[in-house]
Amino acid sequence: MSAHSSSLDRKNGGWSGRFSEPVADFVLRYTASLGFDRRLALVDIEASLAHAAMLERAGVLSPQDLGEIQRGMAVIRGEIELGRFEWRLELEDVHLNIERRLTELIGEAGKRLHTGRSRNDQVATDLRLWLRAAIDLIDGYLAAVQQALVEQAEAHAATVMPGFTHLQVAQPVSFGHHLLAYVEMFERDRERLRDARRRVNRLPLGAAALAGTTFPIDRAFVAARLGFEGLCENSLDAVSDRDFAIEFAAAAALLMTHLSRLAEELVLWMSPRFGFVRLPDRFTTGSSIMPQKKNPDVPELARGKTGRVVGHLAALLVLMKGQPLAYNKDNQEDKEPLFDTVDTVLDTLRAFAEMIPGIEVDAAAMRRAAEEGYSTATDLADYLVRRGMPFRDAHEAVARAVRLAAERHCELAALPLEDLRALAPLADADVYGVLNVDGSLAARNHVGGTSPAQVRAQVARWRDRLGLAG
Ligand code: ARG
Repeated sequence: MSAHSSSLDRKNGGWSGRFSEPVADFVLRYTASLGFDRRLALVDIEASLAHAAMLERAGVLSPQDLGEIQRGMAVIRGEIELGRFEWRLELEDVHLNIERRLTELIGEAGKRLHTGRSRNDQVATDLRLWLRAAIDLIDGYLAAVQQALVEQAEAHAATVMPGFTHLQVAQPVSFGHHLLAYVEMFERDRERLRDARRRVNRLPLGAAALAGTTFPIDRAFVAARLGFEGLCENSLDAVSDRDFAIEFAAAAALLMTHLSRLAEELVLWMSPRFGFVRLPDRFTTGSSIMPQKKNPDVPELARGKTGRVVGHLAALLVLMKGQPLAYNKDNQEDKEPLFDTVDTVLDTLRAFAEMIPGIEVDAAAMRRAAEEGYSTATDLADYLVRRGMPFRDAHEAVARAVRLAAERHCELAALPLEDLRALAPLADADVYGVLNVDGSLAARNHVGGTSPAQVRAQVARWRDRLGLAG
């Protein structure tokens, strides 16, 4: 593009009277946001239509002007949806592109649209509308992931697996119980997003450049049209803060962090060293050199992509830090991190929603692993306590029993009663009942516990909360 054409375009943009030379091509590219803010096109039109309708009611625009604007915007929307809209980088951003096209289509009335507003309140409005829709989409996918986990949890309420602390076998747990832990995490993620949405959903339009406008605008009307729950009540704040995006990014980073934990567990469980689960082939890939490999690429990438989402949160925080009131062009840099956060979260949730129902469990391998590592040692200690031994003494007696079993390379349940009695005289033949993993599970029968009965109760509660059929 020649310097001449950029000068012309700057002129056509409407503010060239102030400039004595055209903007340099490089500066044009550096400052343009069109490459990424096109994604706001449809919400930009929606917000413009609400603004125009309000101006007409206030007597600032004539009914004819409003009709023309509505007609022109319908044409533009069609052009954008069909991919026929001619985007022009020299017009800097999505807002100026649409406004220019409107004027091309309808003339004079198009030039009146920008009365009483600025791109500063316009872009903040667009971004909030866009993010609100994105939050709703994410919420739907989160519900789908929860549903998939609940279904698997129900099928595996009584499937025994080793529960870990420090990645060492700790106590047997139900695989269903393990999965429902993630349902809890995702529910809190949904709560956080829902809460952030209330603050996203406030209208900045009307703040104009920073100080408001001299026209008799009706902001409540625009808010109602666009489905906003309230107004940003200080014009300087309205155009300048991006805390709504930062809050969302924080909730998204935490959500991805939760997904990365589940991803990591899938990677571990799929490793032949564990052999607990298999994933459908469509979620794994082979190796170009090792013919035997099936790699859990999707969970690994989910784990990896968490890094970029956390990075976007940091980018947005640093973007805001130290910005003086009110709008600064820095804020144009909010879009790419925000868009990529939404894209990454949606793709990752979609992968999990489809992958989780396909998880195949090797229940025998899980059970074998749960029986290793003296996972019922606590149950033995609890048994001795029920027979009157103080817990600390029981802990010590069981530690000796574990040591004895380790010396003999056997499990606790394989120690003869006389050996157990030598360490804990209170033990009887019924002690073997608490040493098996099913008994260990069933005994933890209270709210939050891992007994199959409690897991089924959790499943029933979730079905109810998520509105799922039983
Ligand atoms: N493209 C700009 C952004 O994303 C729109 C607002 C521009 N405002 C301005 N005063 N230059 O922030």
